[in-house]
Amino acid sequence: NPAPEPAGVREFEAAARERLDPVHYDYFAGGAGDEITLRANESAFGRLALLPRVLRGVEKPELGITLPGGSASMPVLVAPTAFHCLADPEGERATARAAATTETIMIVSLASTVAVEDVAAAAPGARLWFQLFVQPDMAFTETLVRRAEAAGCGALVVTVDAPVFGTRGRDERNGFHDLPGGLRCENMRDGDRIRPIVFSPAISWDHIARLTEITSLPIVLKGVLHPSDARTALDHGVSALIVSNHGGRQLDTVPATVDVLPEIAAAVGGAAPVLLDGGVRRGTDVLKALALGASAVAVGRPVVWGLGADGERGAVRVLELLRAEVEEALALCGVASVHDLEPGMVRRLRRPW
Ligand code: FNR
Repeated sequence: NPAPEPAGVREFEAAARERLDPVHYDYFAGGAGDEITLRANESAFGRLALLPRVLRGVEKPELGITLPGGSASMPVLVAPTAFHCLADPEGERATARAAATTETIMIVSLASTVAVEDVAAAAPGARLWFQLFVQPDMAFTETLVRRAEAAGCGALVVTVDAPVFGTRGRDERNGFHDLPGGLRCENMRDGDRIRPIVFSPAISWDHIARLTEITSLPIVLKGVLHPSDARTALDHGVSALIVSNHGGRQLDTVPATVDVLPEIAAAVGGAAPVLLDGGVRRGTDVLKALALGASAVAVGRPVVWGLGADGERGAVRVLELLRAEVEEALALCGVASVHDLEPGMVRRLRRPW
């Protein structure tokens, strides 16, 4: 009997877990500290209820969105995650092909195991953005920006929730600190050496201002949780924000992203698109985030689970499952377009079910 096809993101996680080295599974799955925020991201969606409208739906709801860095066929993007070659030998090449097939945006991690140029070459037509941890050596940061531009990336996603690298208990216990067997962070190649990725608490708003000067690519700030920072970001010429807590992998006990989304959306007041990542596992989660003010969401682990379970095909299936779930939930909510969701369609439950 062939194994049954996974019918949801959580089933893909189980399938990936079967196939992956347990140490690598833990690297992908784990979070910082007591993993309180990791769990909260998912459980927060469970405390929100959707309140559908009736008798006003359409045959085929509109799912497409347009963002400063390009358009996507659905409001579900691929969040930047490191080390895809640990999940599938084709690594980020497979992920990029899956993103091309599903016509959505893939944010390529600075810590990808395939160089951004090779990711782009492997997936013609893929809509790529490049994620950056600003390196204190600004000359090297600038070479990274030029490489991303030359590879055709549509935006720079600057991750700002990693002034230091969050300690993850699972990796500590497993002694997982380095990439195995010939794998490298290929974007960190500098001549014939590989630089270590530097996480620096000295990175400041001045660096963001500098980035806007050296590139005409839109800058998307990833990892904003405080409404004041959202406003400061707008003052610095940032084109979009991603409300993110790095999937619970940096500071533990920060709030679930969907719980701070309304405050951030209010602070931004429509001046720039606000995206969200963290804990999105179902189409209904996507609708809740959009209703509460997000223009789109991004998924990190779900794509890794698809990749780990079945390579490129698995990543495609995860993204297509989410699309189908979004489509069905929109129809069931009587909503014609992802742009028509509004806060009144979400109720916060007093007691979780
Ligand atoms: C990440 N994330 C991340 N973010 C980033 O800006 N650069 C990176 O290199 C990585 N690497 C990374 C590796 C792994 C294994 C995970 C799980 C996450 C964070 C990622 O972009 C995103 O914020 C979260 O993954 C979103 O949460 P979910 O969808 O995984 O719940």
